[in-house]
Formats: sequence, C-alpha cells, structure tokens
Amino acid sequence: MSLAEVIHRHEPATAPERAPLLLLHGTGGDESDLIPLGRALSPGAALLSPRGPVLESGMPRFFRRLAEGVFDEADLRRRADDLAAFVGEAREVYGLAAPVAVGFSNGANIAAALLLRHPGLLAGAVLLRAMVPLTDPPAGDLGGTPVLILSGRMDPIVPAANAADLARRLRAAGAAVTHEVLPGGHGLMQADLARARDWLGA
Ligand code: MLT
Repeated sequence: MSLAEVIHRHEPATAPERAPLLLLHGTGGDESDLIPLGRALSPGAALLSPRGPVLESGMPRFFRRLAEGVFDEADLRRRADDLAAFVGEAREVYGLAAPVAVGFSNGANIAAALLLRHPGLLAGAVLLRAMVPLTDPPAGDLGGTPVLILSGRMDPIVPAANAADLARRLRAAGAAVTHEVLPGGHGLMQADLARARDWLGA
C-alpha cells in the first residue's frame, strides 16, 4: 500500500531532535485518537498516525482477529508488512528519522509484530497492553532496540503470563526490554503516561 492509500495524520516536528512517534490506535480508534497522547509524551516530536485498514463491525483495526485475543496470523503478517512499507515511504516523503512506535492494545500488538518481522524499522517501541502477536515469528536480531511494555495487572484481555511471554520473546530477539505491570486494567491510566514520558525522555 502506498502512502496515498493509507488514511493517516502527520504532524511535523517543532523539536526535530526528538524521535518521531508512530502512533498506533486500539480497536475502534482512528488516526486522531492518539495525537493528544503523542503530543503529551514527546512535545514537539513529529507524529505519524495511520488508521488501521481493517474493519470489525465498523471498528478500525490493524489486522483481523478470529476472536478476542485470537489472531488471524496470516492477515497480521501481511498487515505488518504493509505497515512497514508505509513507514518507509512516510520517512522518505516527510523526511523522518526511524520512529518510536507508541501502540495501544491492537496497535501495540501490530507494533510487536513489526519489531519481530522488521527489526531495524523502529528506533524503539512503547507497547501499552500488548500481547504475543505471532506464535512463530522469524528469528530477527533487534540489536538492543529499546522497548517499554506496560501491562495492567487486572487486564481482562491480556493474561499476565502472555505479556511476560512477549517480554521474554522480544528479549530473546535482542531487544532491550523494560516490562512493568501497573495496578490497572486494559484501559490507559495516568501512570502509563508518566512512565512512557519518562522512558521516552531517558
Ligand atoms: C487485539 O485484537 O489486538 C487484542 O484483542 C486487543 C484488542 O484489540 O482488543
């Protein structure tokens, strides 16, 4: 898919020394959803925010699922590759450095798939309420790519063991993973914002 075919927003940087953020919304969100979060997390950074191309009962997503937490992995692989191509083209057209992904829920899951299938594409990732995206990803080398995973202790969608497994798999692929479990559910809280902002600033 070319850039023109992907509904997206791009906010140019006013602080170009900051890494661009690739914002990936949750199920039912759109390209405007995470813009305020991106501005709060890294003021002045360029923002690149695509809309998920799949519709589930009218709700945009980044890939198909068979049930909640059960993914159509063939579709996920294809959509992750499409998203990687979008990022590459957007970098050229908008003159962006490699972005740090900030994904929530479904957006965090495709960000995790991007890390595993396209090592080197992302400068880092903040994965908010992510789970293991692919049962059998290729053995890429993430070469120390920094990843922050923030999970919710009472999350009814992402079991604690699944989030821990994601952290383990990303570490095994060479990412520098920080995994924190916050006292919340699937929704985002003030603590997510504070932790992600500190981590991005460090
Ligand atoms: C997913 O489908 O990616 C996860 O179940 C999270 C969600 O979008 O609800």
